[in-house]
Amino acid sequence: MLEKIVILDFGGQYNQLIARRVRETGVYCEILNYATPMDTWADESLKGIILTGGPNSVYEEGAPRLGAEIFRPGVPVLGICYGMQLINYILGGTVEHAAAGEYGHTMLRAGESALFAGVSHETAVFMNHTDRVAQMPEGFACDASTDNCPVAAFSCPQKGIYGVQFHPEVRHTVEGTTILRNFVLGVCGCKGDYRPEDMIEGMLRDIRDQVGEGKVVAGMSGGVDSSVACALAGKALKKEQLTCVFVDHGLLRLHEAENVLKTYRDEMGLNVVHVDASERFLQALEGVTDPEKKRKIIGELFVRVFEEEAKKTGAQFLLQGTIYPDRIESGMGGSATIKSHHNVGGLPKDSLFKKENIVEPLKLLFKDEVRAVGEALGIPSHMVWRQPFPGPGLAVRVVGEITREKLDILRQCDAIYLEELDKAGLTREIWQSFAVLTGNKTVGVMGDGRTYAYCVALRAVTSDDAMTVEAAELPYPVLKKCVSRIINEVPGVNRVVYDITGKPPGTIEWE
Ligand code: XMP
Repeated sequence: MLEKIVILDFGGQYNQLIARRVRETGVYCEILNYATPMDTWADESLKGIILTGGPNSVYEEGAPRLGAEIFRPGVPVLGICYGMQLINYILGGTVEHAAAGEYGHTMLRAGESALFAGVSHETAVFMNHTDRVAQMPEGFACDASTDNCPVAAFSCPQKGIYGVQFHPEVRHTVEGTTILRNFVLGVCGCKGDYRPEDMIEGMLRDIRDQVGEGKVVAGMSGGVDSSVACALAGKALKKEQLTCVFVDHGLLRLHEAENVLKTYRDEMGLNVVHVDASERFLQALEGVTDPEKKRKIIGELFVRVFEEEAKKTGAQFLLQGTIYPDRIESGMGGSATIKSHHNVGGLPKDSLFKKENIVEPLKLLFKDEVRAVGEALGIPSHMVWRQPFPGPGLAVRVVGEITREKLDILRQCDAIYLEELDKAGLTREIWQSFAVLTGNKTVGVMGDGRTYAYCVALRAVTSDDAMTVEAAELPYPVLKKCVSRIINEVPGVNRVVYDITGKPPGTIEWE
């Protein structure tokens, strides 16, 4: 039976990382808003609960709180940062506002505790707090401290309750993974045998349960997520129930539509309808410069096109390749909304598709897990390992107004860049690489003449999950070759820059 850890979200910025780290230990977990009624998730698969950090102070009016019913016999609880303070508050301890907060790297002196098994006595942790535990609840022991935080970890092992003031999920906490593993495998006793492929049967069953004898339109973008979602639906449903739709919104890369359709049809044997809606999208985007407005327009038009296809086949359901980070980045886990991913935020109120008729089989998986499922389903490996490409396509890579001229220039630059990275054998180790039309024109000199042309940015990032990224340290000769080829081969560009911003503080796309 599947064993699960539930992570109750109090709005902290690192919550998704907690989920990632728990899954890396081979244990399935879900992030839920802290207020989600317990009877909807506390079933026999529940092995432990993690309470996350968050921006509030426990005594604040309106602070998110839980009752003592969260402590159930046989289900250990770990509180992280705010989660630890909340445990303390619920069980009658006191929390104080420290005169000096603790942010960043701190040395922790760890004592004896199941959480610290195998952890060095002095270990670097990541702190991010002003409040701290002053007096612990009765029956609790202090397990670790720092110079600024006398109770940096506590526990009451008889009751299976643990708290840490620092963030074990953040890489700066050097032995954080061990600490989380100690909790899920040691304290909660999970077996650690979860593999994403094991979710396939359940996902197929869920699709069948949701759709019944109904009909589905599936949005295909050419990326791994929608391809895996469609492959699952193709397995779960009868042929006549599923229509895959590939929408060309005019914001695709060079030759993308032909290449993707070829893979779908010839290699995956899918029956795909190709809708060329580029005129409609580009017209709707005319004169629009605001990035969120662009996203809303694209999101809504996508749904309209799918609705038109659904009317033709009589489909009531819309299948999408939404994955876990899309939902969390769009603010569904309780954390701040960063941007509206079209496949989450964009369903218009009057849409033909009811909210309950959106089918999202991958909504609980991370990208690497989607890839594992894709491989298990036998999807061609060049599709499974394709770099992610955003639903709004080049719209999030043309800064300012989108015009055909800019798109053409960008496509040519992007193709040269990707070709050179491929030749250098760098594609697989890079999470995403692409060119951006910055929208700026600057003065240059070519031959004997002055030019006034676009500046193009090249971006390549490495990442595990797109939540945090580093700029890839591309070899200089490769970059120089790209710059030289772009300037020589693409009219309208006289300057090329390489973006070395990480995320945070940047994002991957430029919009
Ligand atoms: P950012 O720019 O937020 O992007 O760092 C994170 C990841 O998400 C992709 N992305 C999208 N994918 N629909 C998608 O399917 C979208 O609306 C969307 N916006 C961004 C982006 O390419 C990167 O992989």
